Amino acid sequence: MSEHAKLDWNQLLGLHVVRKVAKLAERRWKLGFGYIDAARAHVVAPKLSRQIVGRGPCQVLQETSQGRSRCADHASKLLAHFATQPQLRSQSITSSCHADLHEVAAPILVDGVFVGALLCGGYLLEEQDETGLDVGTDHLPRLSEREVSFVQDLVEEAAAEIAGFLVAEGMVAATSHARDRYEGIIGASPPMQAMYSLIDRVVHSDSTVLITGENGTGKELVAKAIHYGSARRDQRFVVQNCSAFNDNLLDSELFGHKRGAFTGAVSDKKGLFEVADQGTFFLDEIGDMSPSLQVKVLRVLQEGTFTPVGDTNTRHVDVRIVAATNRDLRAMVEDGSFREDLFYRIHVINIALPPLRQRADDLEILVRHFLIKHEGTGKRLSPECLALMRAYTWPGNVRELENEIERLVVLSGSSPILAAELLSDRLRKGAAPTRTLPAPGGSLPDAVKELERRMIRQALIEHDWNKTRAAAQLQVSRRNLIRLVQKYELDDERDQSLLA
Ligand SMILES: Nc1ncnc2c1ncn2[C@@H]1O[C@H](COP(=O)(O)OP(=O)(O)OP(=O)(O)O)[C@@H](O)[C@H]1O
Ligand SMILES: [Mg+2]
Repeated sequence: MSEHAKLDWNQLLGLHVVRKVAKLAERRWKLGFGYIDAARAHVVAPKLSRQIVGRGPCQVLQETSQGRSRCADHASKLLAHFATQPQLRSQSITSSCHADLHEVAAPILVDGVFVGALLCGGYLLEEQDETGLDVGTDHLPRLSEREVSFVQDLVEEAAAEIAGFLVAEGMVAATSHARDRYEGIIGASPPMQAMYSLIDRVVHSDSTVLITGENGTGKELVAKAIHYGSARRDQRFVVQNCSAFNDNLLDSELFGHKRGAFTGAVSDKKGLFEVADQGTFFLDEIGDMSPSLQVKVLRVLQEGTFTPVGDTNTRHVDVRIVAATNRDLRAMVEDGSFREDLFYRIHVINIALPPLRQRADDLEILVRHFLIKHEGTGKRLSPECLALMRAYTWPGNVRELENEIERLVVLSGSSPILAAELLSDRLRKGAAPTRTLPAPGGSLPDAVKELERRMIRQALIEHDWNKTRAAAQLQVSRRNLIRLVQKYELDDERDQSLLA
């Protein structure tokens, strides 16, 4: 983002989560919302958005010009804090203003660049002494430590929504130094860049993250990247696939059980939530969890507590939850199979992994990566082989690609060329017809040409380059097909594959 990129704060403060958080902070604690715009060094101190019973303390302060300028002074100090100390700026902080009123400030980082912060405040601490306060204390909200940390969580989530929005709007492009990997995740395409910068931000908080994506898109890799990038990296990373057991077994696996709780429970057993205490718990396939277990997980998320099967004592844990699913949880909420409250609790930060077919640009770098991994260094794909891979839709995504490369390396023996003939049947013959249409936004004639080229190529591959049969399938004359093959230089591709 350029230094002077203008943020439209009206729009940002109108985003769904931001609005909800602002409303909650106002209704529940009478707190105000403000912001800092880093590019313009502009600060709007927390201010109540609507008139509530009594006047909020920040409003009282801001009614005088002296109060206003002191508020602005204080907020400028916050700005300096975030803008000048990279190692400190990734997490929300709490601070007190000149009038000893407290506030939470959550930075908005876009691809590691501080673009602004959300402010929420105008409260006293529970134990705070009132003497010496500039404002009347009648209406001052008092927040316990726990409430402050809850407000921090909320405001961080609101800030994350803004950052995500800015990335999605493409405002990240100007600053982003394209990365071709992130921990063990490989990919340099724009959707991967957006995902990396989202991971950059979530590693600094304890917020629950929901990772969605088709099979084999790297959900578990991302969950690991979050854990090992976070302050919890030295603690455990525990994984449980929620579709692996039936309900009772999963209950005891997750929450543990007391001896004698059920037949076969011969001794006390620690649940995985307890094992993951202080660390990260990756709940895979959360969409497969039964409603009764969903309730228990919700309780851990909200209160940090749970009760093992057959026990009466409540346990307390501090676990960061990262959940994943390849199912459409929103649709499941609608049909009643997934709890709405749990959905909203885990859906605040959603990392959606793009399928491989939407990032064909990453194919070559992934191939290189897997060649090295499977001891195929020095080998390369024949042009035909690469072309077939590009045309394929990869229903199994990166996992399927990795298997394919491993197979090619083994079958190619000592040959340095990985030829198309060695590809598995589904890639070679039955290469699923490409379902992806040319990217929107280009010209119609170009898109039509691209589609024409792909369909012809596909038909030729399916008929082993026999033009008569390919023409019959495409319902064009053989002559016409030959002309089109020349136009799109498809014969070159076949020659290269034969030479390989
Ligand atoms: N972007 C990537 N870069 C490198 N390897 C990847 C990438 N995405 C996935 N993989 C590899 O593909 C395999 C599948 O990844 P992973 O298990 O994380 O996917 P998943 O989305 O959890 O799949 P599933 O839905 O089947 O559980 C792993 O071996 C992983 O290392
Ligand atoms: Mg997985």
